[in-house]
This record gives sequence, C-alpha cells and structure tokens, in this order.
Amino acid sequence: MIDTLVLDKTHDEKRQGEAYAAAPIGNTAIQKHFYIESYGCAMNFADSEVVASILQEHGYGATTQTELADLILINTCSIREKAEQTVRKRLTEFKQHKRAKPEMLIGVLGCMAERLKAKFLEEEKLVDLVVGPDAYRSLPALVEEANGGQKAVNVLLSRDETYADIAPIRLNSNGVTAFVSIMRGCNNMCSFCVVPFTRGRERSRDANSIVKECEALFNEGYREVTLLGQNVDSYHFIDESNDVTVSFAKLMQMVAKISPLLRVRFSTSHPKDITDEVLLTMKQYDNICNYIHLPVQSGSTRVLQMMNRTYSREWYISKVDRIRELLPDCGLSTDMITGFCTETEEEHKESLSLMEYCKFELAYMYFYSERPGTLAARRFEDDVPLETKKRRLQEMVALHRIHSLEGMQKEVGKTFKVLVEGTSKKSEEELYGRNDQNKVVVFPKHQFKKGDYVMVNINSCTAGTLIGEAIIN
Ligand code: SAM
Ligand code: SF4
Ligand code: F3S
Repeated sequence: MIDTLVLDKTHDEKRQGEAYAAAPIGNTAIQKHFYIESYGCAMNFADSEVVASILQEHGYGATTQTELADLILINTCSIREKAEQTVRKRLTEFKQHKRAKPEMLIGVLGCMAERLKAKFLEEEKLVDLVVGPDAYRSLPALVEEANGGQKAVNVLLSRDETYADIAPIRLNSNGVTAFVSIMRGCNNMCSFCVVPFTRGRERSRDANSIVKECEALFNEGYREVTLLGQNVDSYHFIDESNDVTVSFAKLMQMVAKISPLLRVRFSTSHPKDITDEVLLTMKQYDNICNYIHLPVQSGSTRVLQMMNRTYSREWYISKVDRIRELLPDCGLSTDMITGFCTETEEEHKESLSLMEYCKFELAYMYFYSERPGTLAARRFEDDVPLETKKRRLQEMVALHRIHSLEGMQKEVGKTFKVLVEGTSKKSEEELYGRNDQNKVVVFPKHQFKKGDYVMVNINSCTAGTLIGEAIIN
C-alpha cells in the first residue's frame, strides 16, 4: 500500500526502520547493552541520541544486535495509522526474542507511547516500559523498576523539558552531518495532526546550549548541522542573562558564525511564520543552505481552512514568490495530503495546480489518515473513499516526478560546492554528498574524502541524483 513517496534520505520516514550502530563508549563502565530502533521524524531520531546519552551515563552501551541486548527500545511514531502498524509488527518480532530471553526488557518510547499510555501494556503484553517523549530522564529508574518485575510507565508531558544540558550520543552517524533539536512540541493544532497531543506545548531550547552543541560538533569534525523543530520559525528564547530575545533568524546567525565551514540547515518551516528576517539571514550567510522545507498540505483555501493551517492558497504562493525573489536559487520542498475530509475533485486539482506553480524539488505526499483525538477526527467525517485518496495520491506522485526530474535536469552543466558525506552505495570509487540546495551529488573520488568541500561540475542526472566530476586544482 503506498501512502507516501519518499525521495530524499534526510526526511522523516526514509530512515524508518534503520537500527542504530553501536554508540561510542564513554567513561562510564558498560555493564549492559541496549538496542534502539527509531521511526518517524528527525526529531525522534534526535531524541534517540538523547536516550543513548542518558542510558550510557547509567552503564548501558548501544548494540546493533538484538540478541546481545538486555534492553530493546523502539522509538515510535503515530503520525499515520501505517506508522503505528509498522511498530506493532516490529514489536511482535521483538517479543519472539523475549520468549527466548525472558530477562530482557522491551520498552516503547516516543509518540505512540504518549498516545496510548498504559493501554499499551494491556494491548502488548510483553512490553515492560512505556515512556513518553518528555520523560526520558526517568528511563534509568523505570528500567530498574521493570527489572524488579514491575511494569513501568511515565508519559508526563512537560512545559519546559528541552534536554538542553544532555550531550546526545551520535548514533548511526556519518561523522559529517548531525541533527540538533532547538525546540520541542507544537502549538499549532493543525486539525489532522496528532503531534500536539504526543509532543505537548511548544518550548524553545536555550540558544547558548544550542550553539555549544554545534561548536562541539564542529570541533569533532562535523560540517553540517540541521536545526530541528516542528515549526522552527516560531523559535523564541529569552536570554535572561543578557536580557535579549533570540529569534530563529538570530539563532541561525549565532550558529552560522561558529565557522564558515559549518553548513546550517533547518526543518520544518511553517508558511505562516517564515519571515523576511529569516530569508535575509539566509541570504547574508553563505554557509546557511539555500533550502526550505515549506509544507503546504493542500492547494485549496477551503481545505486549508478545515485543516486549520491559518493561511490561504494565495498566502502560500506569495511566500514562495518572496523566497524566489530574495533567494533565486533556493531549493524548495513540501508536504502534501490528499483526500482530507470533504476534499472535492476540484480541490484536488487545486493541489495539483499549486504544485505546478511551485515546482517543488521534493515533495512528501500522503493520503489522509484519521488520527483518534485530533480536531479533524472529532469534527469532520473521513468521507473520501480510500480508493479515491489513493488515486489522487498517485496523480500527485506522477506530477511530482515530472517536476523533480525537471529540477535535476536544470542543474546539468552547473558547478556546485558539495559537502562529501561518504562513499556512494553503488561504487567504492565514487563519493556522494549534497549541494547547498540539498540535492544529492555523486562523483569519482580521486583524493577527496568524507567531510571535504568539493567543487563538482554536473554532467548528467537521474530523478534523484546529480552526477558529475570534481574540479581538481
Ligand atoms: N510540522 C510540520 C508542518 O507543519 O508542516 C510537519 C509535521 S508532520 C510530522 C509531517 C507531515 O506528515 C505533515 O506535514 C503532513 O503532511 C503529514 N501528516 C500529518 N498528519 C497526517 C495525517 N493524519 N494523515 C496524513 N498525513 C499526515
Ligand atoms: Fe502537526 Fe501542524 Fe504542528 Fe506541523 S505545525 S506538527 S502539522 S500541528
Ligand atoms: Fe511521528 Fe511524533 Fe515525529 S508522531 S512524525 S515521531 S513528532
């Protein structure tokens, strides 16, 4: 069943199901091992790195082998029904391991833990721990409780937890690019979305701790940070020590100033909140990447209103025009939902025509999946038949394929500065990296290595990759 087309490695679900590689071992003696698998958005992946840090402090080292684990954790996503089904299937497999090794603990973390709370323990008998996204500091105590034979649950949401003082342990890292959480939660209440219920109120992390984390990453050899939040443009931190308010634009500036060699990306922007100040800051700093993920969800103003997105089709288009005016070569991507409650054929066509206007380089497309407890589930009927949702999604996917190929073809003949992320999957003799606009570039390796910036002439492309030759001085 398709409910999504994912063309990019950095976004949400492409990384679903990847297990983490073993974490580096710190000073604390490792007595036991945990295995963690993460699903959902980049924020969940970043949270798993916080969890790894908390557990390591308490004598747990990471392993990639479930058989070696004393504790199996699954960091879950609730965004669509399918995401939850995937988790349940995986849990069934983990429970087989537990049958063979009964002393092993299984813990459910993240958004599904928050949504289902203690119900999880009734539904999934062999689960020992249920821990919500704001309760990870209590994980060691909960593990202890579960080791003593109790079922352990903590799903309290917090108004101020940001894990600001915890240095995440980079799991499954390429050593070049890293996610840095700058805020938690969301105040937006889009009617289709479960996130405000699973992640709680929006809070911004201390700007100084963000800069410190990015500096440490740079000193360790990382060359790109992606600042993460559900709505980064509403980042807002009051620094009482200096009596200043830090906006998102100001935060980007602070991070960009660490070094011109450190690339700065961010995700996700909400069309209602992205400001000229942000766009002008992007223009001012060469190391802030020209790429914006600007989810639109629908091209119909009536549907957008029902979704509670608080902007119209025209507002969105005017934002795109402004981005193109200030940052002519900016890469643009989006999220789309087809078949939202009461969406008509005409309104679906409006989504297609909006895509035609914007020609997104990348689009993450889903059919609407009703989530229990959301505004839409309570107020509207999920009345577009599944077959219609799927057909509309396929039409959208087909249109986007044309746009993404056109977007790649227009880059042939150009030269880009590429940050090398590693060896190409297809050949040991080739490297891959990304350009400023987040497009994947592959080229013969010569003397170059991971973490280098390389100027690459683009000779050809596929729908997902630019292929070129490095300029060698
Ligand atoms: N905060 C981001 C924003 O406002 O655009 C996105 C957050 S959400 C984690 C990622 C995407 O999942 C959304 O942009 C939306 O397209 C999709 N999504 C969320 N709820 C959905 C639902 N109930 N059914 C289908 N897709 C959904
Ligand atoms: Fe969900 Fe809307 Fe918040 Fe994004 S902005 S996380 S879609 S409620
Ligand atoms: Fe999923 Fe929670 Fe992220 S619902 S998309 S893991 S915030």
